[in-house]
Amino acid sequence: MSRVRLDRLLSNLGYCSRREVAVCLREGWVRSVDGRPLKPDSAVSHDEILFDDEALDPPQGLLLMLHKPVGHTCSSKDPGRIVYDLLPGRFRHRSPVLATVGRLDRETSGLLLLTDDGQLLHRIISPRSQLPKVYDVTLAEDLRGDEFDLFASGTLLLDGESTPLLPAELQVHAPRQASLTLHEGRYHQVRRMFAAIGNHVTALHRQRIGGMVLGDLPVGAWRALNAAETQTLWDTAQPTV
Ligand code: URA
Repeated sequence: MSRVRLDRLLSNLGYCSRREVAVCLREGWVRSVDGRPLKPDSAVSHDEILFDDEALDPPQGLLLMLHKPVGHTCSSKDPGRIVYDLLPGRFRHRSPVLATVGRLDRETSGLLLLTDDGQLLHRIISPRSQLPKVYDVTLAEDLRGDEFDLFASGTLLLDGESTPLLPAELQVHAPRQASLTLHEGRYHQVRRMFAAIGNHVTALHRQRIGGMVLGDLPVGAWRALNAAETQTLWDTAQPTV
């Protein structure tokens, strides 16, 4: 594993500023696994350092999933509740920044990915990847029966737009319950699709992005994805030609 200066490593991971590293060392927050004495400019590898007796957060290339609750926004600046409030505070100070992969609106719950890997982020949200995203939808009115064909047609135009939506797949579970699979991500797309046919979405939950599912991750909880899961996302987000 490559070696970097200790103060740079810790500040990039958001534990403290470069200046504060000396204090952290003095107060015993930071130590090496083998007891080697450390200075702020010591060349270290990520896996030999403990902070508060725990292994460091994953290095650059972090990808995590969060079960976003209703009521939190995906912004990092909104004065109300934000998704970063649900993560360790230091994650907000990482460099490169940990960004949400696309957005869910405040009233939508479910699977949100965050990463500090700009290339992966762009691969996932690129219109060319057409990565399927699956939403569970609860409606105010009964489905009419023609929604499946309309959404699959590739001709539906949303208000104020000039390019029709890509075909989307609707699975009906009950008169007011359905799942919708999208291959693009336009602003408030699911809500606007149902508004376009005179219905209203009362609850919206994203359950899947490509091969990633929330599983039994509790509402508000998060977990880092492992290397195999990250690779699966890279593979499934291949650009279409
Ligand atoms: N469609 C919406 O309307 N909202 C979301 O958050 C995601 C998709």
